[in-house]
Amino acid sequence: MVGVPDTTTLGYRLTEEQEFLRDTLRDLADEKIAPRAAEIDRTGEFQEDIRRLLAAQDVLALPFPEAYGGVGADLLTICIAIEQIARACATSSLILTVQALGSLPLLLAGSDEQKARFFPDLASGQMLAAFALTEPEAGSDAAAIRTRAVRDGDAYVITGSKRFITHGSIAGLLSVFALTDPDAPRHRRLSCFAVEVPAEGFSVSRLEHKMGIRGSPTAELQFDGVRVPVANRIGEEGDGFRIAMDTLDRSRPGVAAQAVGIAQGALDAATAYARQRKQFGERIGDHQLVAGMLADMDARTEAARQLLYKACTEIEAGSPDTARWSAMCKLVAGDAAMAVTTDAVQVFGGYGYIEEFPVERMMRDAKITQLYEGTQQIQRLVIARSLLGRPD
Ligand code: CAA
Repeated sequence: MVGVPDTTTLGYRLTEEQEFLRDTLRDLADEKIAPRAAEIDRTGEFQEDIRRLLAAQDVLALPFPEAYGGVGADLLTICIAIEQIARACATSSLILTVQALGSLPLLLAGSDEQKARFFPDLASGQMLAAFALTEPEAGSDAAAIRTRAVRDGDAYVITGSKRFITHGSIAGLLSVFALTDPDAPRHRRLSCFAVEVPAEGFSVSRLEHKMGIRGSPTAELQFDGVRVPVANRIGEEGDGFRIAMDTLDRSRPGVAAQAVGIAQGALDAATAYARQRKQFGERIGDHQLVAGMLADMDARTEAARQLLYKACTEIEAGSPDTARWSAMCKLVAGDAAMAVTTDAVQVFGGYGYIEEFPVERMMRDAKITQLYEGTQQIQRLVIARSLLGRPD
């Protein structure tokens, strides 16, 4: 939709089920995940036990339809779950975020047969999914993908490489975007495939050492003539770019939810610290400069949360302005998370800069929410294009 947007009057109020899920997951994350967060960050290893915990609690089933063993949760419910896990540990929240992201192409454009084949194992958490769009030369410019998929009988042969693929090394199912017709118009060149791995010709060539979300593997993947049955093509040939954009419209709120959770975790830690740490004979929170920072952190976090919940409500209701809502909530929440976690480190002073307290990790984790699933600059571009339309 182009032009000054109708901000609509669609309101939301959390249902009893959503409130119950929020409270239950907050307790679970406080009890079972928060105590592990520092160790996950330090070792940089994927935590199978947290995956099993989330699977056992049916958290990984949230995005999938009931007919295929899922819970059939709406976007707001999924985001509430991501937020509560991220409040304790951003890395752990990616287990749900990426399970949803990697499965969205199938959810949005997959056939019933494909859903029946893949969703039960994804919903049970037995198999992980990943979203393989980005390439070394195709980051923000998603249409510039070079990985080729060439039809050969009843299969496609995929050749190329993908970069920065979250969970690419541990997923059993990859949504891979590849060029099927290099001569087609720019946005009709790509197709999307459900690639089951391990497979002949598939390999993981590199794992990144990252600033944050360190327990979540980010992989470089090689496809050297990987044969994928035609039955695994998601949608029609040429639909790939549209599927990628529709996926990101529904997955960016998940990153916003992660950002809101990280910000809330940092605010909680900073508030607790400001209540007990004494300097100049009083609690540091009683010094007005620190109190003002805490107030700003609270207001920013809540503003981001409210925009996120509103965006989820609009997207779920089929707003014609989905791309804008999705980009706005990710933009505002990502920037809020970065600002709030940076201020949290400031509230802790020197103690904020060392590993003993969680806020330095949260600050490092927050940065990724301004980068992945489209940088903040790309979110601004998406919002501006919905206002202005494309240049002539
Ligand atoms: N939703 C729906 N449709 C969209 C869209 C959106 N968000 N953005 C663009 N489109 C549509 C346009 O309306 C247009 O449609 P028509 O042809 O019908 O007019 C078509 O797509 C082409 O649009 P543009 O001309 O604007 O396309 P572009 O090539 O200039 O690029 C872009 C648009 C928004 C920059 C897009 O390339 C983009 O989103 N880039 C960012 C990619 C990204 O987010 N990558 C993240 C990788 S995943 C990741 O990080 C996950 C992880 O590890 C956890």
